[in-house]
Amino acid sequence: MKKVKLTNSPLIYPLPAVLIGAVMGDKPNYCTAGNCGIISVDPAAVYTSLDRKHYTGRGILEHKWFSINIPSVDQMVQVDYCGLVSGSKTDKSDVFRTFYGENEKAPLIEECPINLVCELIKSFDIYNMTVYIGEIKETYASESVLTGGLPDTKKIDPLIYNMDNKYLGIGDVVGSGFAAGKNYK
Ligand SMILES: Cc1cc2nc3c(=O)[nH]c(=O)nc-3n(C[C@H](O)[C@H](O)[C@H](O)COP(=O)(O)O)c2cc1C
Repeated sequence: MKKVKLTNSPLIYPLPAVLIGAVMGDKPNYCTAGNCGIISVDPAAVYTSLDRKHYTGRGILEHKWFSINIPSVDQMVQVDYCGLVSGSKTDKSDVFRTFYGENEKAPLIEECPINLVCELIKSFDIYNMTVYIGEIKETYASESVLTGGLPDTKKIDPLIYNMDNKYLGIGDVVGSGFAAGKNYK
């Protein structure tokens, strides 16, 4: 297969666009992030990395809590807005309906089908970014996206954001993990 060398780019696809929530003063603020992923499943730990200048980071460092909210395709406009506008200049607290779990320092978005409450366990700077590592203390899902009590990715309908600056939805299920490769040899 002929390969073409591209400019260096972190082409780890697909990744959902997420909304990082933090409390700023007495209001929630939400910032869009593509840089977000899993570190460990048990204990459940995740990371996000935000530009050091972003307003949301201040709230995360002050309170040591943040949230990760997984939006659906039908929230694309609001998600993009939260990535275009900074809470330092514009109040974004009314873009979504906010609810709280057991912790008042991690604002959660009602419209987003999945919500993770994260306790900041470590942060560090790299390049112009700060990496925030959070241990998940509470997980919520909208009842409407469950099948047999478990989150159903097709019902969640996550919003994928690509390095070509395009939003996408997801396609069909093509197989099962820890199973699709079983009969390879
Ligand atoms: C789809 C999308 C993905 C983004 N991903 C990131 C990201 O991973 N890290 C980051 O620092 N900024 C990211 N941004 C930019 C921030 O969301 C944007 O600068 C935002 O206004 C910061 O908000 P704040 O100042 O209220 O924290 C993204 C924006 C969009 C639209």
